[in-house]
Amino acid sequence: MRIDSATRDQLQAWEKELSAQYQRICQHELSLDITRGKPSAEQLQLSDRLDGILNGDYRAADGTDTRNYGGLEGLLCARELGADILQVPTAEVVAAGNSSLTLMYHAVLTGYLFGFAGNVPWRDLQAPKFLCPVPGYDRHFAICEQLGIGMVNVPMTDSGPDMDAVEEQIRQDQDIIGLWCVPKFSNPTGVTYNKETVDRLAQLAQFANPGFRIFWDNAYAIHDLEQQVNLPSIRAATLENDTADSVLQFASTSKVTHAGAGVAFISASSANLASLKKQMQAMTIGPDKVNQLRHSRFFAEFTMLREHMQKHAQILKPKFECVLSQLHNAFGDADLGTWETPKGGYFVSFNTRPGCATAVVKLAADAGVKLTPAGATFPYGKDPEDCNIRIAPSFPPLEELDTAMAVFILCVKLASVRQQLALP
Ligand SMILES: Cc1ncc(COP(=O)(O)O)c(C=O)c1O
Repeated sequence: MRIDSATRDQLQAWEKELSAQYQRICQHELSLDITRGKPSAEQLQLSDRLDGILNGDYRAADGTDTRNYGGLEGLLCARELGADILQVPTAEVVAAGNSSLTLMYHAVLTGYLFGFAGNVPWRDLQAPKFLCPVPGYDRHFAICEQLGIGMVNVPMTDSGPDMDAVEEQIRQDQDIIGLWCVPKFSNPTGVTYNKETVDRLAQLAQFANPGFRIFWDNAYAIHDLEQQVNLPSIRAATLENDTADSVLQFASTSKVTHAGAGVAFISASSANLASLKKQMQAMTIGPDKVNQLRHSRFFAEFTMLREHMQKHAQILKPKFECVLSQLHNAFGDADLGTWETPKGGYFVSFNTRPGCATAVVKLAADAGVKLTPAGATFPYGKDPEDCNIRIAPSFPPLEELDTAMAVFILCVKLASVRQQLALP
């Protein structure tokens, strides 16, 4: 189906046929959901052995009684796990509670209220702002929006954020104090940053506001679907450029073990960690070390973690294949949309023809298929082109996903044809 070259008669015939199909689907009263990137029950089950793994032995290898208060930085063995995931030295890692998003919120608050490493608190600047590669992760944007921190869109490319745009923005505005990054299997585009991008990111601190920090949210560090994709080390790049203070790295086991009951990690230079710990010690006497010990026993060796992730991949692969093959069959030689083919992570990012995403999401919702709201992948929920839709294949069973994708494709076709017909 090629819309641009279709005659009006052809478009009208398609509209009639697609509308009839759509009406038939609406009668099925579907109730399907491909919105959030949550692990499926089958994936969660892979980690059920966490329950009971301590078997009454609460002592960590270093003698810590994990049932008691204390240990702001987290258990040594948990920090080692975080260091393996982020490929950084253990001394630079804090193991915390169940959510890396909480750690990011905390880190933004630290920068905003107190400043990192002796720098001016962001709230003292005239108009503090973050650069936001788009499309991106809605919950990052929600943190900025809630705190009244401005957001500036920069486009994502297939090797990471558009670095010319990033550098230009930073050169012309010293109130830019942050940059959100999901460097591996980016949410939602699936892109992994290449070496040039990582090197250029590591050089930003040479001309940015001294309080500028890159939020390196490596949520999908070990979530490869096939062979391992290599993300160049931001730590190594910052050490080469003498900019180690400019990066805060995050990860968690949320999509590794139990999503609501994992362990989150932050890694940073000693100056940044000192700033964070100063605030943390007023907030908590220490993290849940019992859960940290469970995770350390469950993944006694890093190879066990890798093997575990392969089991996740076995479950996820058919779901990604389902989405990608349906898109390919429907739109492979059409002009109705473009999409990425991710090698890991949790999402497939689809771009409709400009101006169609809202209509597609509405049509799908009315037919009983819930999609992520159009615009959700942009700051303030505003996609200037109204084209990006994030598809999350992980949670529904395969048959449901298959049906949801068929409805999605029909809605893309119908919305596109109707839009073209409406043009003068
Ligand atoms: C990019 C990204 N960062 C962070 C999170 C949330 O991580 P956590 O569960 O550790 O808070 C998600 C979850 O969807 C995510 O996609």
